[in-house]
Amino acid sequence: MYEATVSAPVNIACIKYWGKRNTKLILPTNSSLSVTLDQDHLRSTTTSRADESFEKGDRLWLNGKEETVKEDGRLGVCIKELRNWRKVEEDKDGSLPKLSKWPLRIASYNNFPTAAGLASSASGLAALVASLSKLYSLPQTPSQLSLIARQGSGSACRSLFGGFVAWREGSNEDGSDSLAEEVAPQGHWPEMHALICVVSDAKKGTSSTSGMQRTVETSTLLQHRLKIVPGRMEEISKAIKDRDFQKFGEITMKDSNSFHSVCLDTSPPIFYLNDVSKSIIASIEELNRSSGEIVAAYTFDAGPNAVIYALEKNIPKVLGVITKFFPTSEENSDPFGTAAEALPEGYNTNVVREGGWEKGAVKSLIHTRVGDGPRTLGRE
Ligand code: DP6
Repeated sequence: MYEATVSAPVNIACIKYWGKRNTKLILPTNSSLSVTLDQDHLRSTTTSRADESFEKGDRLWLNGKEETVKEDGRLGVCIKELRNWRKVEEDKDGSLPKLSKWPLRIASYNNFPTAAGLASSASGLAALVASLSKLYSLPQTPSQLSLIARQGSGSACRSLFGGFVAWREGSNEDGSDSLAEEVAPQGHWPEMHALICVVSDAKKGTSSTSGMQRTVETSTLLQHRLKIVPGRMEEISKAIKDRDFQKFGEITMKDSNSFHSVCLDTSPPIFYLNDVSKSIIASIEELNRSSGEIVAAYTFDAGPNAVIYALEKNIPKVLGVITKFFPTSEENSDPFGTAAEALPEGYNTNVVREGGWEKGAVKSLIHTRVGDGPRTLGRE
């Protein structure tokens, strides 16, 4: 039996992917850019096995529960493409065992509860692709592997790299240039931290997949957004290279708000932010105003949970605001043991009206930072 175990990180976009120009190949309507979060804190781990004696058919378990692998489903497509790549190697070198012909047994789990409201598809699919690539000893680069992860879930292609990652939309019909690339490695800006505010652990009402398609079909505002994103990609890449948090934060917040605006411009409209999310936005905007500079930047995916990016030195300020207005009801995770700081002088507490104050409005906080790409592990 052959076996490989790999873990892969979660990524949170600063420039959002929202819309497909090809739903089968998962080709996006715009490029996107994300920060990879530290796998020491949040990760998906996948073990893949291939054996000649396994009963026919591939099988997969997600967090201990068996899922059906449909041949023409997203997962089935990823497995098939990786098998084809293995077959190419076997044809080149006749001495290789014919793993491409053997059934697979794949087990994947997240170290964070799916209920934490964090997208697990990105880290999950990236871990699956990276583990099969390891099992098959494939020579492909992370960018080439991202072409396959993309077909599992668009955002998964960015989890094949650490640090700061761009997914280039590409222009080829067959998707061969729609891939992820590193903009800057983890070590370029290690001071970049993130605070995840878990507002709700309920499964979201409208999935990203169906929501973004409805936006493509019905939103006129999306056409305007698509003209703006290329400039933002350039600007934020430069901000990252220059370690310019002011610019990074400004663009991150603007793009999150732009994404939620096109959701609202969709028919019927899609609401991902709730009153608590909006109060978090107000509380961070006021922190930045009263600090006289951008010290924190919020961003929201297809749900009400906030991810707040801030430099390590400013996390005490962010924690000061969040813990004051949003006392948590569950245990927080802060491996750095950061203490909260008092609100800046001149902070207008009236800005946080609805949703805040009430204990439990934010369930828990997870403090993490920029992390590395997939890791090959021993048996877990
Ligand atoms: C709001 O990657 O989950 O998180 O490609 O249909 O699987 P599919 O969608 P998915 O969409 C993620 C949308 C987002 C923005 C982002 O991560 O860029």
